[in-house]
Amino acid sequence: MRLHQCYNFHDFRELARRRLPRPIFDYIDGGADDETTLRRNSASFDDCDLVPNVLRGVSDIDLSVTVMGQKLALPFYCSPTALQRLFHYNGERAVAAAAAKYGTMFGVSSLGTVSLEELREAHETPQVFQLYFHKDRGLNRAMMARAKEAGVQVMMLTVDSITGGNRERDLRTGFTIPFRLTLDGMLQFAIKPAWAVRYATNERFRLPQLEKHMNMGSGTMSIGRYFTEMLDPSMNWQDVADMVKTWDGPFCLKGVMSRNDARTAADIGCAGIILSNHGGRQLDGSRTAFDQLAEIVDAVGDRIDVIMDGGIQRGTHVLKALSLGAKAVGVGRYYLYALAASGQTGVERALGLMKAELERDMRLLGCTAIRQLSRDNLRFRTSSPEYMGSAVSG
Ligand code: FNR
Repeated sequence: MRLHQCYNFHDFRELARRRLPRPIFDYIDGGADDETTLRRNSASFDDCDLVPNVLRGVSDIDLSVTVMGQKLALPFYCSPTALQRLFHYNGERAVAAAAAKYGTMFGVSSLGTVSLEELREAHETPQVFQLYFHKDRGLNRAMMARAKEAGVQVMMLTVDSITGGNRERDLRTGFTIPFRLTLDGMLQFAIKPAWAVRYATNERFRLPQLEKHMNMGSGTMSIGRYFTEMLDPSMNWQDVADMVKTWDGPFCLKGVMSRNDARTAADIGCAGIILSNHGGRQLDGSRTAFDQLAEIVDAVGDRIDVIMDGGIQRGTHVLKALSLGAKAVGVGRYYLYALAASGQTGVERALGLMKAELERDMRLLGCTAIRQLSRDNLRFRTSSPEYMGSAVSG
């Protein structure tokens, strides 16, 4: 299978599976515990159907949205994900360039492998910097100051990772950063020599957002240990309110799920919230963002931008979320598999396919602009939830 034979999420995933050593593929692919939430994330979109309108004159389609003050050419963006240079030697450089080509936002992770400054300088398109809340408050302040100084527009604090999720695939494979050719892992690398040669011959693996503050020395660090040892489980709303004030610009929380939390986020001055269960990698059994979306839009949609991520594989998934009232959606694995499959060309193909799907599906649905999407376009198969009565445009 080659890149030009990839037409959807499943194709990119399959190509990634063939190209990556198993422990790295499993790190991307896996979720927490029994991976129930991971599976449910995509399945939840199938519980509701689209109801098209016809004969609406749909020659010109405008996919642009404005979210947290940022104008995006597409209603989806690349959600921040860690360690991208493990998946392809160009990592974040490839993803940021592809996002810029399509005029959408790119999220840089605290656990990114290219510096936020380099990525900010390389492209004009909006960039969000994703922060974890570390025990070391000086580190949190320093990271925000760096992002401000570099010209990052939006600060995104991830609040669903107060401790590490139980990712049993990673425990089994002994996944660590930087990646080590352990005796156990050797076989995996021997059967994926192209990946191993590129990893060994390219620029050294780094975590530029963190390296001044984290002593990786010659040892390795598991992702689980990073979360449990470096992040601060005592983080509370007052800490976040202080950060919102310090940032003094669009600030959003990623991983809010409950109505009360959404209201508090609005009260403390957040510009947006991202409903997310971290791609099913944290609390298994937690509700999906899509299932929870309408309730949250109804509670705070008139005060802050409600965004969601998790399980998005298709243009129709994006349209269902927007119809329920999301202002934009994030994708994670969708572009990560494409990155692993073929670097920047792969991500460009994935984003281009999603854009084409959205344009086609908007026409088929009878809408020319995102603001025309509403709950009138949706019907749930099971008992009709009470929120379906009001037509909220998204
Ligand atoms: C993530 N995600 C994530 N989120 C975050 O805030 N900081 C991070 O560093 C990471 N790292 C990360 C690595 C990998 C390999 C994955 C798959 C995910 C979560 C990510 O931003 C997003 O919430 C989910 O990926 C959305 O679910 P889908 O689109 O992957 O189903």
